Amino acid sequence: MNLILMGSPGVGKGTQSKRLSTMLGIPTISSGDMFREIRRQDTPLAHKVRGYMDRGEYVPDDLTIKMILDRLDEPDACDGFILDGFPRTVPQAKALDEALGKEGRHIDHVVLLQAPQDVVLKRLAGRSTCSKCGRVYNHDSNPPVEPEICDVCGSKLEQRSDEAPDVQRHRLAVFARQTEPVLAHYKASGRLEIVDACPPVDDVTEELAKMLKGVAPA
Ligand code: AP5
Repeated sequence: MNLILMGSPGVGKGTQSKRLSTMLGIPTISSGDMFREIRRQDTPLAHKVRGYMDRGEYVPDDLTIKMILDRLDEPDACDGFILDGFPRTVPQAKALDEALGKEGRHIDHVVLLQAPQDVVLKRLAGRSTCSKCGRVYNHDSNPPVEPEICDVCGSKLEQRSDEAPDVQRHRLAVFARQTEPVLAHYKASGRLEIVDACPPVDDVTEELAKMLKGVAPA
């Protein structure tokens, strides 16, 4: 199954895509995680990516499209994938359709996780992430057992560099300006399926599983 998970910053794409990946046995391909990996390096590319991310802007299409299309050609993505955070612009959506079409592949589901702005801002404000393994927590809905320490690897939890309130609001504005046209593109072709992302994490997973039929929640 080839799946795209879309939604505004903080709506729960990363949380749900990791759960679906386990349930479906296919990899999650997260453009945000890939850029966070790149920005840890000490290279001119890392410096460039850091600038865009810290301002809450999208990384340019040419770089983003190449990174994702190369990743989709890796062997583990040949039997299915979950795209988290890509495509986010109309050129990205068109490049994806074209590249998959050339290989006789296609997207089976485009799912929009939807929640009001006050809900996503609250989630973003409460999020912390493991500095080592990247596991995501929330001090309201999913706190670690020991404060500020990752349950899995024992490393320190931190706030993401794009978590400052003004950057969060800017990311939401960028989503409205650049990604809502992508939603309109999928809606117009009858491919957009919408899931309410407001309920607790398990309930959202159950709803997604129902939509993807035959997938049993773990
Ligand atoms: P990216 O990492 O993709 O950021 P984002 O889209 O802004 O999404 P987030 O990771 O902030 O949120 P999420 O929806 O994954 O929510 P999460 O599961 O963490 O991208 C970062 C940057 O990279 C971009 O700004 C851009 O610069 C660049 N980039 C990435 N892709 C790009 C592209 N295609 N083109 C150009 N540039 C690109 O959940 C949030 C919190 O809520 C967590 O604490 C979680 O525990 C909690 N939570 C989740 N679900 C629930 C629930 N149901 N109930 C209660 N709490 C919940």
